[in-house]
Amino acid sequence: MGQHVRVLIPEEDIEKKICEVAAKISEDYQGKQLHLICILKGGAMFMCELAKRIKDVDVSFDFMSVSSYGAGTTSSGIVKIVKDLDEPLEGKNVLIVEDIIDTGHTLNHLSKLLMDRGPKSIEICTLLNKPSRREKEVPVKYSCFEIPDKFVVGYGLDYDQRYRNLPYIGVVEFD
Ligand code: IMP
Ligand code: MG
Repeated sequence: MGQHVRVLIPEEDIEKKICEVAAKISEDYQGKQLHLICILKGGAMFMCELAKRIKDVDVSFDFMSVSSYGAGTTSSGIVKIVKDLDEPLEGKNVLIVEDIIDTGHTLNHLSKLLMDRGPKSIEICTLLNKPSRREKEVPVKYSCFEIPDKFVVGYGLDYDQRYRNLPYIGVVEFD
């Protein structure tokens, strides 16, 4: 059975929005230190595109990989750390950079866990947000796009590890 990807958000729109969000972040953290935490693998492309547009902020990077326990496509709420951060968070302004917030279970759990490491502040920046699917409250400070309840790929997001490299956000269709 063949698959193809229908474009939902074109590359130009994503770039434009990332520039706007990066400008807002630059304004909010002007002259301060900012520790970006990329949630692998989905957040990788967004993190790079966002970070290079943040100006006059003392930026550092770290990476974390998590997986939800339980089968299926729905998040169970129990998050397993597959790769932990390299650096401590004490006293840092932390910004978690994520690909998508769906049920909210992953980030609800993760933000509490990281909060316990004593950062000065902790905020969330996401490329995509599916508010209609929310089960756990997540305080999102920066969100690029709100999307309907559709499974999307591209710009870091995968379907069975495929399509992460697409420069746009799309919906997988089967034919
Ligand atoms: P949550 O815990 O339900 O918010 O799950 C968020 C995670 O599920 C994201 O970090 C993605 O890895 C994955 N996910 C949720 N929706 C999609 C989607 O539409 N496409 C690809 N991955 C998704
Ligand atoms: Mg993810």
